[in-house]
Amino acid sequence: MKAIIENKNIVLGVSGGIAAYKSVELLRLMVKRGANVRVIMTKNARWFVGPLTFKALSGQPVCTDLFENGEDASIRHIDWAGEADAVVIAPATANIIGKLANGVADDALSTFILAVTCPMILCPSMNSQMYESKAVQRNIERLKADGHFVIDPDSGQLACGTTGPGRLPEPEDILDRLIYYLSPKDLKGKRLLVTAGPTRESIDPVRFISNPSSGKMGFAVAKAAEKRGGDVTLITGPTNLADLNNVKMLKVNTAQGMAEAVFSHMEHADIIIKVAAVSDYRPKEQTEQKIKKDNISELVVFLEENPDILKELGRRKKNQILVGFAAETENLEKHSQKKLTEKNLDLIVGNIVGRPSSGFDAETNKATLFYKDGTTEPLPTMEKDDLAHVLLDRILQL
Ligand code: PMT
Repeated sequence: MKAIIENKNIVLGVSGGIAAYKSVELLRLMVKRGANVRVIMTKNARWFVGPLTFKALSGQPVCTDLFENGEDASIRHIDWAGEADAVVIAPATANIIGKLANGVADDALSTFILAVTCPMILCPSMNSQMYESKAVQRNIERLKADGHFVIDPDSGQLACGTTGPGRLPEPEDILDRLIYYLSPKDLKGKRLLVTAGPTRESIDPVRFISNPSSGKMGFAVAKAAEKRGGDVTLITGPTNLADLNNVKMLKVNTAQGMAEAVFSHMEHADIIIKVAAVSDYRPKEQTEQKIKKDNISELVVFLEENPDILKELGRRKKNQILVGFAAETENLEKHSQKKLTEKNLDLIVGNIVGRPSSGFDAETNKATLFYKDGTTEPLPTMEKDDLAHVLLDRILQL
């Protein structure tokens, strides 16, 4: 599946706030994802960032004034409005919010917006008192009632020295919500339980047994499901990844911790996807103090088996779709098929691990889907985000 914003016409409206510098990065991210981005700036925005920066990054003329380019410039705004697939206003100041809520059209951006029929996303950013003022809140409510999307500002220290809500969210988060608003909601009403990352099994307070899972594949599945309207719970082992928007995050450490979390949430799930790399074994004993190396030249650690969470899910499942992953270094088909049957799965994603382009910690993955009915579907190497969408497409067909 292509990135949802690839080849889409996005108009980025920039109004005059200190956070305008972040819209440069937002533009860069959208262009990187293949979007065709046009920028309209208010007069005040030019105090913060020059139009040339936006022009260079978008590769398109930047609109700064209704009449600056001659008589037909205003017609061009109407064309842009008709061609836009989405509009993002970031930062949206109290001034532009007030104008849009009241239908005022007195500059290029506000005039353009009145002609827009596609989804519009506003990212308010201003001083906290201004943001919390009755007038701004009333205008935001009115814009929501008009069907526009509003991304709440972050809280924290603001450029004006005060602390509170009003900070423009990070560009990655704005892009994430843009993709959310544009994605089809074919998982609406479905509850998904996804697991991700490794588990850690302690030997002593400073050492553990684990594996190289980064969590990227499991997070990609949870993120894709959320974008498509699913109600997602993600149970994850330790990773360096940021929490996902609009996803219930449960963090665990050990296989036993993951088992408890999974079993207490499985009943409510329609679809369970187990991407986590669970340690099959744990040290039989964990010492309370750090094991000292004094006089020990060989250390023997006895391991005992962890619960096989997926197998138990396969035993307990009722009218639920159960999907596993198989991490293999050889005989992908044979080992994946065996797990598919033994764990009573509907589908297993077999992937070869230990290659730079596939498996642990890679950005891409090379997988083959093995279905319960015996069919198999080899997939090309693709971004983990894209594989997640293909997997969800197939699950919806089951
Ligand atoms: O996190 P990344 O860096 O992005 O890497 C992604 C990945 C390689 C971890 C992922 O694509 C993957 O292959 N996940 C499954 C890893 C694994 O544990 O495979 P397995 O073949 O050992 O286990 C088969 C299935 O049983 C898995 O769904 C696993 O979650 C489950 N299992 C395994 C052991 C156990 N004790 N309990 C389980 O539930």
